[in-house]
Amino acid sequence: MKWIESHPQTEGKPRTGSLHTEAGIVETPNFMPVGTRGSVRGLSSDVLSRAGTEILLVNLFHLWLRPGERILKGAGGIRPFMGWKGPVLSDSGGFQILSLKERRKVSEEGVHFQSPYDGSSVFLSPEEVVRFSEEIGVTIAMVLDHLVSPEEGTGKNREALERTLRWAKRSLDARESVEGEMALFGIVQGGLDPELRQFCARELSGMTGLSGTIFDGYGIGGLGIGETPEERVSLVAAAIEPLPRNKPRYLMGVGYPEDLIQAVGEGVDLFDCVLPTRNARNGMLFTRSGRLIIRNAKYGEDFGPIDETCSCQTCQSYSRAYLHHLFRTGEMLGPVLNTIHNVTFYLSLMKEMREQLVMGTFSRWKNHMLTHMNSRGN
Ligand code: GUN
Ligand code: ZN
Repeated sequence: MKWIESHPQTEGKPRTGSLHTEAGIVETPNFMPVGTRGSVRGLSSDVLSRAGTEILLVNLFHLWLRPGERILKGAGGIRPFMGWKGPVLSDSGGFQILSLKERRKVSEEGVHFQSPYDGSSVFLSPEEVVRFSEEIGVTIAMVLDHLVSPEEGTGKNREALERTLRWAKRSLDARESVEGEMALFGIVQGGLDPELRQFCARELSGMTGLSGTIFDGYGIGGLGIGETPEERVSLVAAAIEPLPRNKPRYLMGVGYPEDLIQAVGEGVDLFDCVLPTRNARNGMLFTRSGRLIIRNAKYGEDFGPIDETCSCQTCQSYSRAYLHHLFRTGEMLGPVLNTIHNVTFYLSLMKEMREQLVMGTFSRWKNHMLTHMNSRGN
């Protein structure tokens, strides 16, 4: 895999480029819809493509438990299993160390989890993550990282960070021992401390495996879990500063449209987040002028589309009044149509950012968008 900067920028930190992978090309900056268990809820591959999806995210930890390696290998890998021809990035299970706190035990060797499905005990190590990702044919694998809540304090965060670095090194070594083209990304942690973030990014940038290979890109993790949007911007900037210019950067699990615009301004190339899909299922829709709650009574007789400027399948054929009706009646088409809109909205926003960057008008556009959008609803 290779990331090539396409229009060396005159505007400083933000950039455009293309990721060349075995499974296809991804223009950056770009957004990955989340298909944790091998499905973006409600959307078939065909619909995802039409919405503009170029790359999908899956979660290795969940796939490892269910359907498991035998079935995924039997299918010829995760991509044919899902009927998705494009590239796939797998998150490692590092986030589950935090979210399944009651059900796991972290040691130097790896993580023991109690399966949320049947209670059985399973063990995930940095080496197993690399081996399993390669076995099931993911395009880009994230290393196993140790994520702790910023509230745990500096001591705990520093310990987790040092372990994350030792695991990153083991992951690079493990990748050299598997066959294939799979790309591997390190993950910058460091909690809410900009200096720890810089330290981690510097260490990962200089890290090599036994035969001298380096990471193909870098995730920025541990964000979107309690920091303010302002804190996040400076933590992202701190993490990016030491990273090599010629490798892609991926901000993990963030965020609202405004957060994506801000982060692109700092030089982020890739994103994923459950917001557009999860909020769609709850009836929260993103538009150019902010968010829209489709259950509100005022939409019951509103025969216009969700967003006049949107070219998605939903906005082309259905009104707010109809979507309001689907919400009230609990029809399964409601969440599907809402998800098509929100995913298209996020992907169109990324495309617009790429265009603005190429034209050299990104900063002005960014300031305009940030003043006119209020999708966080605060
Ligand atoms: N998803 C969102 N944040 C993170 C993170 O810090 N680590 C991992 N592995 N996944 C994430
Ligand atoms: Zn739409």
